[in-house]
Amino acid sequence: MQRRCLAVHAVLLIAAIALPLAASQPWPLCGRNANYTAGSTYETNLQDLALTLRAKASSSPTLFASGTNGTAPNAVYGLLLCRGDVSSSDCFDCGSRVAQDDGQACNRAKDSALVYNQCYARFSDKADFLTSTYNTPEFQTTYLISGTNISSTDVAGYNRAVTEILNATVRHAVENSTRLFATGLRRGNDSGFRDIYSMAQCVPEMSSTLCRTCLDGLVGQWWNTFPRNGEGARIAGDRCHLRSELALFYTGDPMVLLQDVAPVNAEETVYQITNLPVDTTDDFESVKSTLLSLALLRLATDNFHESNKLGGGFGAVYKGILSGQEVAVKRMAKGSNQGLEELKNELVLVAKLHHKNLVRLVGFCLEEGERLLVYEYMPNKSLDTFLFDTEQRSRLDWSTRFRIIEGVARGLQYLHQDSQKKIVHRDMKASNILLDADMNPKIGDFGLARLFAQDQTREVTSRIAGTFGYMSPEYVMCGQYSTKSDVFSFGILVIEIVTGRRRNSGPYLSEQNDEDILCSVWRHWEERTTVKMIDHSLGRNYPEVEVVKCINIGLLCVQQNPVDRPTMADVMVLLNSDTTCSLPAPAPRPIYLIDGISGYSQTISQWSWR
Ligand SMILES: *[C@@H]1O[C@H](CO)[C@@H](O)[C@H](O)[C@H]1NC(C)=O
Ligand SMILES: *[C@@H]1O[C@H](CO)[C@@H](O)[C@H](O)[C@H]1NC(C)=O
Ligand SMILES: *[C@@H]1O[C@H](CO)[C@@H](O)[C@H](O)[C@H]1NC(C)=O
Ligand SMILES: *[C@@H]1O[C@H](CO)[C@@H](O)[C@H](O)[C@H]1NC(C)=O
Ligand SMILES: *[C@@H]1O[C@H](CO)[C@@H](O)[C@H](O)[C@H]1NC(C)=O
Ligand SMILES: *[C@@H]1O[C@H](CO)[C@@H](O)[C@H](O)[C@H]1NC(C)=O
Ligand SMILES: *[C@@H]1O[C@H](CO)[C@@H](O)[C@H](O)[C@H]1NC(C)=O
Repeated sequence: MQRRCLAVHAVLLIAAIALPLAASQPWPLCGRNANYTAGSTYETNLQDLALTLRAKASSSPTLFASGTNGTAPNAVYGLLLCRGDVSSSDCFDCGSRVAQDDGQACNRAKDSALVYNQCYARFSDKADFLTSTYNTPEFQTTYLISGTNISSTDVAGYNRAVTEILNATVRHAVENSTRLFATGLRRGNDSGFRDIYSMAQCVPEMSSTLCRTCLDGLVGQWWNTFPRNGEGARIAGDRCHLRSELALFYTGDPMVLLQDVAPVNAEETVYQITNLPVDTTDDFESVKSTLLSLALLRLATDNFHESNKLGGGFGAVYKGILSGQEVAVKRMAKGSNQGLEELKNELVLVAKLHHKNLVRLVGFCLEEGERLLVYEYMPNKSLDTFLFDTEQRSRLDWSTRFRIIEGVARGLQYLHQDSQKKIVHRDMKASNILLDADMNPKIGDFGLARLFAQDQTREVTSRIAGTFGYMSPEYVMCGQYSTKSDVFSFGILVIEIVTGRRRNSGPYLSEQNDEDILCSVWRHWEERTTVKMIDHSLGRNYPEVEVVKCINIGLLCVQQNPVDRPTMADVMVLLNSDTTCSLPAPAPRPIYLIDGISGYSQTISQWSWR
């Protein structure tokens, strides 16, 4: 395939060339200020550096290397960045071409940038570009056009489509790739421009914030730079790169997929997005399969029939049968389309979490304004329906309770540490612990609290009231969330499971003036009368040492300072430790308990005004 490529604009660029694209041909961008001579020390240092960078970049997982060789005045600075999808050996080959081409391509200019299809190299006698936050303006960026013109007459639609996939690709590179690299594909339905392929990449040593700024800048100048009907274009600089083509130019499955599904009307084009959270794309198919059609879910729930309704809360939940399997279909209130892409991202992420102590998300559907989440069906509902019901509570013997505590700890540990991405649940509470037919616990709604919060402000407010008792002080006071906030909520949950009492503390629920359950437990702990707090419905059928150990762990988890709280991995170790060992004692009663509810309620009302 011979494609015409053209460097259209570059500050200080010597050549604006239209050249046939030979695979190995570099597009050079050369400085004018200083040249070196053949056979000079500078040239030797440059060659040495090019070879060092080639070796380092091709053996690095980020396919990037930067460095220097020689000492002033012959010091040379350089970087080599291979396109994020190329193999180590292709990166090595591209690096070899850099070493060969550099002197000639730029007539021995000390400042040079070489852009290839598979890599980018930059050299200078000054180090500034290695630390700059943007593509350095004085020694600019390479702009390339490839292909010819699109055949579609809908140029505006094309521009929108390109901007859209570039935006999504940038977002993925910045937010979801540790290497700051993403590829994208937008499947279109216009015969004049069908599939649009994209790529965004930053030098991986940049912060994601700077990377975003850099790439957003390139998206912003895209249509000021390139003809609006051009087939493909690329901007390459020493900090970030952006590219869009009508032909596939990268290897592997796209990390971002936008699909232009037959529009219902011109105003409301529906996009399906499959935005893979990690750089490995092996499980692309498995993720795609979690998209379910609305028609299928209507069928599964008998068109959301009242008789299939399981419960309410945050949107209704219906029981359904999907391919012979019992499922729970959660139907979120219809909302604005804002945050829809974030929602989809998160759903794909959640769909990829697999752990026996997490409720499995079978799939989801985002059609016609509906937001439907399909989970495996949990016949024994949630922990709160047992724990906080006087009759049902007696059906939870100690071994079941301990199994629940352990299972929840395992599920949380997976979310925090073992899943591909560190996930903070943010809404750990008894009603989010679901129970299967054998009373094994599974954490539900993980990651979704955060996800639905965006456009459901009201729900969020009422949820604050409902789960106030589980919120860590740093969250209440500063709105700060971390895995240690989940650990706090876990601690409360453990104390509830042991005492059989709900922690109803907080400004909204304090009329009855009962002592906060947490205060009671702490007081009894200090007075060494902890056993008094154990749920009476357990009778005497429990191993006292183990139960006290659980209270000890619970108190460690609710310590004031997040740093003092154990991680979930620590909790697992403590839970499984020999009951005869003594556990670390929690720090003295935390200030948030001593100050009492009045101090707390002031903070929360302030906080909820934000
Ligand atoms: C460096 O070389 C280029 C191309 O040969 C030339 O145009 C430029 O004037 C030279 N610069 C200096 C500072 O000698
Ligand atoms: C420059 O490269 C040569 C050859 O790889 C190496 O021996 C030398 O130590 C390098 N110098 C510096 C300052 O890195
Ligand atoms: C491509 O479109 C531009 C307008 O953006 C026009 O000037 C040019 O002649 C077109 N080229 C071809 C080959 O059609
Ligand atoms: C792309 O992102 C920019 C900046 O975030 C935004 O202004 C623009 O509307 C987005 N365009 C599309 C088509 O999504
Ligand atoms: C593409 O458009 C055609 C005609 O408008 C339509 O029949 C077809 O379903 C569309 N395909 C997709 C994937 O939207
Ligand atoms: C992408 O990153 C953002 C921000 O870190 C996160 O909210 C989102 O869930 C991620 N999406 C995927 C698909 O990983
Ligand atoms: C849990 O559900 C199963 C299946 O529906 C049922 O047989 C069992 O009795 C339930 N367990 C409790 C403790 O209710």
